[in-house]
Amino acid sequence: MPPQPHEILDYILIDSNPLRARIAELGRQITADYQGQTLMLVGILKGSMLFMADLMRYIEVPHTVDFMDVSAYGAGARQSSGDVRILMDLHSPIEGQHVLIVEDIIDSGHTMDHVLRLLQARRPASLKVCTLLDKAERREVPIKLDYVGFEIPNVFVFGYGLDIDEYYRNLPYIAVVKPGIDLSHE
Ligand code: IMP
Ligand code: MG
Repeated sequence: MPPQPHEILDYILIDSNPLRARIAELGRQITADYQGQTLMLVGILKGSMLFMADLMRYIEVPHTVDFMDVSAYGAGARQSSGDVRILMDLHSPIEGQHVLIVEDIIDSGHTMDHVLRLLQARRPASLKVCTLLDKAERREVPIKLDYVGFEIPNVFVFGYGLDIDEYYRNLPYIAVVKPGIDLSHE
């Protein structure tokens, strides 16, 4: 059994109310920016699923949703290797579409760099990135971010889609792991 959240939680970084308020703002901004267009939201699994579900409720331009699953981390590892694999590709073509990628967090940037190259090659009408969290300090590859929920410090976070060994994605807040908690379990 994985430990209870309170056993590994140092502090709550972003609680559910500020999360909801910021996501509503992002949705309104996206609605304004894509006025008169149709939009295709591309969620990166699995971390983006709660963010996607909440964000799309605030997007009032017509849009479709698709998902892809990519892996940057070896199981349990904490560092992005730069070795990014596509585990599940999109179901629909994106050529000529206005595509907005929806991601939970940009850390080193390797995952998003890979996804952007892959999708750009399919000739979308436009391609932008919306991330809930930006750990800018950790960036190894420069990434242009069009919409950012929160810039966060260099701490390991979990909850609201983000996992530790696949657990805790259901938590309604984003929390920081206690120092000294072993995240690797290899
Ligand atoms: P990047 O390739 O280093 O930018 O890594 C991005 C991916 O690493 C995200 O999609 C997350 O799955 C994962 N990740 C990065 N930082 C954290 C964190 O603090 N908590 C949970 N997952 C994280
Ligand atoms: Mg992820």
